[in-house]
Amino acid sequence: MEIVIQADADEVGRVAASVIADVVARKPDGALGLATGSSPLKIYSELAARVAAGALDFSRMRGFALDEYVGLPFEHPESYHAVIDRTVTRPLGFDPRLVHVPDGMASDIAAACEAYEQAIVDAGGIDVQILGIGANGHIGFNEPTSSFASRTRIKTLTPKTRADNARFFASPEQVPTHCLTQGLGTIMCARRIVLVAQGEGKAEAVAAAVEGPVSASCPASILQHHEHATIVVDEAAASRLRNRDYYKYTYANKPDWQRY
Ligand code: F6R
Repeated sequence: MEIVIQADADEVGRVAASVIADVVARKPDGALGLATGSSPLKIYSELAARVAAGALDFSRMRGFALDEYVGLPFEHPESYHAVIDRTVTRPLGFDPRLVHVPDGMASDIAAACEAYEQAIVDAGGIDVQILGIGANGHIGFNEPTSSFASRTRIKTLTPKTRADNARFFASPEQVPTHCLTQGLGTIMCARRIVLVAQGEGKAEAVAAAVEGPVSASCPASILQHHEHATIVVDEAAASRLRNRDYYKYTYANKPDWQRY
């Protein structure tokens, strides 16, 4: 695991965007795993700026969202179909036909999840997966006690996650109770992972994921077993890490050949 501590949320977005940009430059027809929520927004705006400047091209990239609410029509502004379209597909110039989001409106949920897994396989796997982290340590919507071997499936959101996401809806009751999410096993198959976290509210989850025991109680701790996971956090989100100084020293002395 590489831990990169940056001064603020803008720098977190810039550093994480550089990792993504490097992958896209090397493999312009690769596959990018897409998180929603607040955490990755600065990555997307930074990448959009690089696209507008002509430095980057996503038109041949495939995109795979991590998750989707169950029972929220695609046209609902907070469905992840709509959020991905608004924050990623259009600003980054993806071909909409190459962007996939799990089908939370499917009549056969199990078949939709299986089809989603197959679409990732057919795309050749995910080259780089963007992740945020929940205050309870979830990644995707793999809530605590999710199986480390899990694949895309339906999950029940915890009351805490529903409360956290209520800010996107007119009232807390409108947050769906269920979601489809890539599993922890699916996420772990990505060749590269970039997790971003900002703010004090994420500090405990970040510390548990990075320095705690690998445990299904903190789903993000499975990333300790990934061969190429980069955790980019601001000072506030890093505030509970015991080895902060070591991570800063390592990053400051990172050789150029290893930059991304
Ligand atoms: C979103 C997702 C979630 C979020 C997490 C943090 O697709 O999979 O794991 O990354 O809930 O949400 P924010 O970024 O809104 O704090």
